[in-house]
Amino acid sequence: MPTFVIALQLKIFTTKNELQQYLSEVRASGKTTGFVPTMGALHQGHLSLLAQARQQTDVTVCSIFVNPTQFNDPKDLDKYPRPIAADTEKLQQAGCDILFNPPVTEIYAGDEHWHLDIGELEHLLEGEFRPGHYQGVMQVVHKLFDIVKPDAAFFGQKDYQQFMVISRMVSQLQMPVKLVMCPIEREPDGLAMSSRNIHLTIDDRRHALILSKALYQAQASFDPAHPEAAKQQAEQMITSEPGTQLEYFAIADGDTLHPANPKSTKIVALVAAKVGATRLIDNVIIK
Ligand code: PAF
Repeated sequence: MPTFVIALQLKIFTTKNELQQYLSEVRASGKTTGFVPTMGALHQGHLSLLAQARQQTDVTVCSIFVNPTQFNDPKDLDKYPRPIAADTEKLQQAGCDILFNPPVTEIYAGDEHWHLDIGELEHLLEGEFRPGHYQGVMQVVHKLFDIVKPDAAFFGQKDYQQFMVISRMVSQLQMPVKLVMCPIEREPDGLAMSSRNIHLTIDDRRHALILSKALYQAQASFDPAHPEAAKQQAEQMITSEPGTQLEYFAIADGDTLHPANPKSTKIVALVAAKVGATRLIDNVIIK
């Protein structure tokens, strides 16, 4: 008996009206939807989010939209990779049901203003180095949630602070969506997967390993009585690595992102650095 593998067709939408119409039929049939918002240049990290979404919900929607409002450097926005043909193929292979790939004009009407006060969370760590970044992230995620109306949405732990920011928005605005954080996917040598890794030269790629090494070192040597010691050691490792410019290394309380203290029930080590011309972030959960 011959066996057949039937590849289900990936449905692609570029307008919100068509997507919303299709999704209202999906909902009417009683099916749940899982959403993976991305900016494309998909790698195993994104595909692991999709795999989670497929496990937990009936119909999976992935968006690819390079959101201009979350870039504080126009050059960074220009050079952000956009390999849409390869991305579409990956989603098809991974069994994604729907791709939403709108043009900028479909998402933004023109001169829009957005501000949601989530307190100091947006100004710490990433917020200090990328002012306004998380307002842009909230703005687009709010719009995308409004269009897709997912039952659950899946984000990577790699941008730990982003997950906290989005959780804060969802709870403040009482948005009816369950948020799921999925673990970081790493290359065999420890480098956290990122769409930006594409920009690393061979030398950068080698230097970039210091970030995960420093994080793991901090995790292994962390002593709650002396949290500063592990931080200083990690900072020293990174600052002595050639081609690498440390922005911050923090051992933080996982609920507030303030420096960890003896009462912290969750502790996370987070790092951001420029390696060559590429800015990378990474983190590990210590507790
Ligand atoms: O994490 C990302 O790729 C982006 O910040 C997101 C959540 C898709 C919003 O543009």
